[in-house]
This record gives sequence, C-alpha cells and structure tokens, in this order.
Amino acid sequence: MKDAAPETIYLKDYTPFGYKIESVHLTFRLHPTATRVISKIAFAPNPEATDKRFFLHGEELSLISARINGETITPRPVEGGLEADVPEVPFVWEAEVEISPETNTALEGLYMSSGMYCTQCEAEGFRKITYYPDRPDVMATFTVRIEGDQPVMLSNGNPLTAGEGFVEWHDPWPKPSYLFALVAGNLVNHPDRFTTQSGRDVELNIWVRPGDEGKCAFGMQALKDAMAWDEKTYGREYDLDIFNIVAVDDFNMGAMENKGLNVFNSSCVLASKETSTDANFERIEGIIAHEYFHNWTGNRITCRDWFQLCLKEGLTVYRDQMFSGDMRSHAVKRIEEVLQLRARQFREDNGPLAHPVRPESFVEINNFYTATVYEKGAEIIGMLRRLVGDEAYRKGCDLYFERHDGQAVTIEDWLKAFEDVTGRDLAQFKQWYSQAGTPRLKMSEEWNDGTLTLTFAQSTPPTPGQSEKKPQVIPIAVGLIGPNGDEVVPTTVLEMTEAEQSFTFDGLGARPVASVLRDFSAPVILDRAMDDDTRAFLLAHDTDPFQKWEMGRMLTKDMLVAMIADDAAPAETALDAIKTVLTDENLDPAFRALVLGLPSEDDLAQTIFDAGQTPDPAKIHAARKSLRHTLAIHLSDVFPTLGRQLETPVFVPDADGSGKRALRHALLALETLLDGGKAARALFARADNMSDQGASLQALLAAGLGQDEIKAFEKQWENDRLVMDKWFMMQVSFAAPDKAASTALALTQHPDFTIKNPNRFRAVFGALAGNHAGFHAADGKAYQLLATHLIQLDKINPQTTARMSGAFETWKRYDADRQGMIRTELERILATPDLSRDTTEMVTRILS
Ligand code: ARG
Ligand code: ZN
Repeated sequence: MKDAAPETIYLKDYTPFGYKIESVHLTFRLHPTATRVISKIAFAPNPEATDKRFFLHGEELSLISARINGETITPRPVEGGLEADVPEVPFVWEAEVEISPETNTALEGLYMSSGMYCTQCEAEGFRKITYYPDRPDVMATFTVRIEGDQPVMLSNGNPLTAGEGFVEWHDPWPKPSYLFALVAGNLVNHPDRFTTQSGRDVELNIWVRPGDEGKCAFGMQALKDAMAWDEKTYGREYDLDIFNIVAVDDFNMGAMENKGLNVFNSSCVLASKETSTDANFERIEGIIAHEYFHNWTGNRITCRDWFQLCLKEGLTVYRDQMFSGDMRSHAVKRIEEVLQLRARQFREDNGPLAHPVRPESFVEINNFYTATVYEKGAEIIGMLRRLVGDEAYRKGCDLYFERHDGQAVTIEDWLKAFEDVTGRDLAQFKQWYSQAGTPRLKMSEEWNDGTLTLTFAQSTPPTPGQSEKKPQVIPIAVGLIGPNGDEVVPTTVLEMTEAEQSFTFDGLGARPVASVLRDFSAPVILDRAMDDDTRAFLLAHDTDPFQKWEMGRMLTKDMLVAMIADDAAPAETALDAIKTVLTDENLDPAFRALVLGLPSEDDLAQTIFDAGQTPDPAKIHAARKSLRHTLAIHLSDVFPTLGRQLETPVFVPDADGSGKRALRHALLALETLLDGGKAARALFARADNMSDQGASLQALLAAGLGQDEIKAFEKQWENDRLVMDKWFMMQVSFAAPDKAASTALALTQHPDFTIKNPNRFRAVFGALAGNHAGFHAADGKAYQLLATHLIQLDKINPQTTARMSGAFETWKRYDADRQGMIRTELERILATPDLSRDTTEMVTRILS
C-alpha cells in the first residue's frame, strides 16, 4: 500500500467492531529478517455492532496465505489493512505473514535490540505483526507458540509447555492486541517470589542481558513493594502465576505494561549505586510501580478507544504518585510533581500543541502520549478525590473495578461509578477532560471586622480549536495563618464552580494571611498580589509544605524577573528568607534543596511572555547565573557546617539519603562558583556512587570547569551505555550558550553516538533543546542542527522524531528573528519528501 494523505480520526465517529474474538492462537517462527507469524483466530459476529465490514489492520506485512474455515481465500487489500467476505456465523480466520524484525528501526511491532527480539505494540504496533482488528475494544485470550533457538522465549500469561526449540504461553485474561508482547534472546534473570493476599504464589523475574544481573535488586524490591501497596491501598491482587519484566536497550518510551510481561527501557529498570543517581532510583521505583498498577487500571479494565487514553494513564500516574509519596515523602513528591507539571504540561497547554486530556481527534495517536494526557490526567483524579473525599474515592474505585472488569470503557463509565457512589452530578467536573488550556485564577481579598472574604475569578485562555471556555469546578484548598504565625483555620477545600465566586471566613480575631491552593489542589495558575514580606511570612510559617515551597519559589522568581527587566540587585528580604529555611534543621533536607532550586530559564521565559514581554534567552541566562553567584556568596558561611551535617557515609537510595545528598549537591554547585572547583573535584575523586560523581561533575561543568573530569568519566564508563548517556547529556546540558550547538555537533561525531538508539539521541538532542539559552542562541545554529537530525531520524524512527519536534513548541514566545529562523526549520522539516505521518502532524500543529 502506498501512503495516502494522513487521515484524521474523530472520537464522535466511534463504532464498535462487527466481530468478537473467542480466541487467538499465534505461532512465531523467529528469524531476523524473515519471521513467520501464523495466526488462527476464532471470530463471531458482534450482535451489538451494525457495521459488519470485516476489516483487519495490517502494515508492513507480507501475506503468505489466508484461510477462512480452512478454505484458502484472497483478501482484498485496502488502505491500512485488508478486507474479506466472511460468513454470518462464527468462523475461523487463519493467516501466515512474514515480517523482518531486524530492519524494523521504528521500534514498533516486532523488532530487534542488541540481538534480542522484542515487541512494542501500544498503541497500534500489533498490526505490524499480523492482520488483526488492532483496536483496544476487541479483547481476546491469547495462546502463543514461539519457535526458535533463543535461550529465553517469553510471552504474556502463564507458561504452558516447552520443548526442543519451542515454548508455549497462555494468557487466560482477555486483552486487546496492544498488550501483546514477545521477547526472545540470550537473557539472564534475577528471580524472586511474591505471595498475594489470598495466598497465590507468584514467580517474579527481571530479565536482562548477561552482565546486568547486578542491577536488578532495586527494581525487584520496587515491584514487590508495588504489589503489596496495590493490595493494601486499592484491594487489587495480581492474577497470574508469573510476572516478568525485561530490560531493553532500544525503546521509544519509558516502559510498557504488557500483560504479565512488562518491557522496560533499560534506563528505567537497571539500577546500581555506581551507575544510577538518586533521581534514577526514584524514577525507576515509580515506573516499575506504574507499569505494575496498569495490570488493573489498563489491562483488566482497558480503554474503549484511544481517545480514552487518560482513563488508564491519568489514573495510573495518580496511583504511582501516591505510591511514591508513601514510599518516600508526600511533601517532596508533590513539589516534584508540580515542578514537572509546570515545566511540561503548562508549557504544552500554553502553546500550539494544547489539547484536551481527552482529545477529540488525532492523526497519529502516538503523538498524544503527552504531559497533558498523563500528568494533567493524574491531576484530575486528584481533584476528584479531593471533591468526593477519601472514603468515597475508594468506594468509587471499588465499584469501577467490580462493574467493568474485563471491559473496554470510557471516561463516562469511570465518572459514573463516582456519581453512583456519591449521588453527585459530575457533569461540570467532566469539562476537565474536554477543555484544554490552563485556567487562570485571579484572587482578591477583603478584611472587614473579623471576616475575611476571598474572591476568585477564573478564566481559561483560548487554545487551538477552542475559543470559548466555560467555568470549571476548581477545588481550592485554603488555610489561614494568624499574625503570630499560628494556623487559625486548618485546610478547607473551597469548591469553585462559577466564573466568579466569593468565600468568607468569619469570627476571626486579627487579620490572618491566607495560604491558597494548598498541596496544589488544582492545576491552575494562581494570580494573587502579594508583597515579599507576606511571602517571607508564609515561607516561615505555613503548615502546608507545598505552599511553603511555593512562597520561596515566588520570591526567587520575582527577583529574577526584576533582574532580567532592569538589572536590579537581588532583594535582601528574599535572600535572607531562603537562608533561614536552608539552615532550619527541623526541615527535611530534600525540602530545603527544593527551596534552594531556582526557576528554570524556560519557566522564566514563559513568565515574561505571559506578562506581555518578549523573553531574551541570553539575558535570562545571565540573570540566573548572577543570582546563583549572589546566593553562593550570601550562603558561603553555612557551607562548611551544613556540608558536614549532610554526610551520608553509606549510600542508601532512600528518601533520607537522597534528600541529604540533594541538599549537599545543591550547595556544592554554589560553592563551586566560588572555590574554583576545589570541593567538587575532591568529591569527584572520592565518589563511590553515581549521585556524588555525577553531581560533582555537573557542578564543575556548570561553572565552566571539569574538562579533565569529563575525560576521566568517559574512560571509566565507556562500556556502560546508560552511564555514557549521562556523559553525552551533561556536556550539552551544561555547555555555555554559545557552545551548546557546537558541543552537540561534536558529540554526534563520537564513535559511540548513534541515531538509532533513542536514549542516545535524546541524550544529545534532548539536552540541546533543554539548554534554553544554548538552544535559542541568536545565530540559530542549534535550531538548524536539531532540524537536520530530526529529518534524518524521521526515516528511521518517526515516533521519537515527532516527540522531539516538541522542542519547537514554544517558538511564538520569542522575537521576530528567532521566530523566523524556527519557522524556516519547521518548514524545511515539513518539506522533506515522505515525511512520516507522526512528524507531519506535529510540525503542522506547531506551525499553525
Ligand atoms: N502505556 C505505556 C505507559 O504508560 C506507554 C507506552 C506508549 N508507547 C507508545 N509508543 N506510544 O507506561
Ligand atoms: Zn502508563
């Protein structure tokens, strides 16, 4: 089939498939360039469907033969698959196709990575394996036979039989094709066991390439913790005899929840203290939990269609966030979530790629695995829980699981469970799923004789395809702090439903300070006039850790914005307030490290743009650098004492250890600006773990030092792919603005650079896009370099190309010269012959 013009798919056009599947039998005869896939599928007419067209998806397949009820037939090839005439009664479809895993560089369908076979089917990769109704609402039980000479051959479900040159697997739970998986290769396992709450004994394995066995223990513990947590917190138990995780080097995303056979990007599962930072450990724990939690929220209950992606992703992110909070610190985790939400989702929501959490149309569904679907999707679950309360939340979840087990459902089904449990009408709440854009919440306050009135006005700016916005339900968590610093009104959730609404607190003695949007109770931008003294007061006294941090953040942000605008000197109030928090031994070091963190350059650019000005990346960079220097001087007297208090002689990747290291590393980065690199070099030399080693190297690079250390690092780690990704990334991330593009270009000439491995490509080009002043350097070289490589990568891996093109999504913030240069690059990408559907859709949307 040749490519036709990309077609847009609409939510409103959903119709059920005309046939149900009783069972699927697949046989794989593995061969790197000529794998045979033999399918035998029992279909029956679907009484609920009116459209009886028998269409099977199929892409890049060579059809060898097809049969219906044993009779050879010749199906009609149509765009994206084939059609056939079928009986009006149950029938058996059989087909044999040939595919070529070795040449599959898109990493979708069956492909090869470091000599092993593996699959990635979500969202629509199964159609590259065999002809099939590749849509999530067609669920079936699978039996899989793998024939080949690979030492380990895995698929979903439980092992059935194995013999010379073959194995068979059976998955008793009906599932859609996107959850299918096959892995075969020379793998070794890290085994363990888990006994579920009802006494089922489960075999657990993490499968890795020989040599990586020593990097599995942490992931295995995270898996067991996640299994126990889901039983305790949601009453959800595992449902097979075996659970396998496989680490794969070449992978487009983080990981994939295939039933009983999760496949992970090796960077999201392999961990050791020598090679992984604290942040890596935390992320691995969260992703292992995320994929495991999908077993119920995604697998047992799946999505009716891909527009409902947030049904499984938003909920599962919410679940993994709560798990990580329980494992570590809720306060710290919440601040990290908000940082991430603002950096990725607010950025998306405020640009040309803005879309609702449940989109209404798409060209390529892979382009909708976004921060909006995932992270804003999770925020919606958090708001729902706040509105209905913890008890009703759990009851609603129980009802959802009970009612929809084994089904492919919608957001309406999810919300109905909560309406039925609480008697609430969630119609207005549902707008969170359909309305794109970040709501602005403007607050004003009035004090009158013992009564405090808070008035809020909400508005959401227009987004592509949505010019008018309706008021949303916004849970606003508020607490009041009295003048002496004591909390006089504990956290109360105000439920805003109107465009403008007032709430009063009466019977108050003296005028309190309101702490508003505690725990970041809704994904909105709060606009509230507040002076530095009030912020410093809340920074010192607020009982809500998120708001406490937020006050510090606002102080530093305003300081930076003023420095950028008129080269103002940093305000003493703010510097002192930060120092007080920093040295407060009653506060968690991890929290103090977060308070010391400055807003990113990208965040500042957006803030300046929102205020109606044009951000100048070079000025932003210079101001931030200057404030770091001022902070370093202001805090220099506390470095020695604090540094000693924060020693962690034994590396344990838990909340306590990682918090202490985070603060120590933040201080080290500042100290390095003053001591010529002495302290950082000393830590680099004695580091016995990647957190210390990486942080000391980064401190040096950020101060324009570290060239010897970068060489030493390469020599030490040249045989470790994941550590080498860090080596590539750090050099670009910390390159001076005028060196970022040339550094990235030079690294693409390094023998270990390969465009085919997404982790390596992202290490260099993700870092380039993330180096704000470097990416937006006035000569436009970074824009050109990225575009050139995206054009090359599109031929190899459209999914990763499309995703990385998001680097340009903020282009309209900048001046006419930069806009012109970016437009030229975007148009150059778009003019590339045979550009993929993925990249075409993204670049078109960015340009519009
Ligand atoms: N469901 C996976 C997860 O959330 C993401 C896989 C998406 N893959 C893709 N190619 N779109 O963990
Ligand atoms: Zn997920």
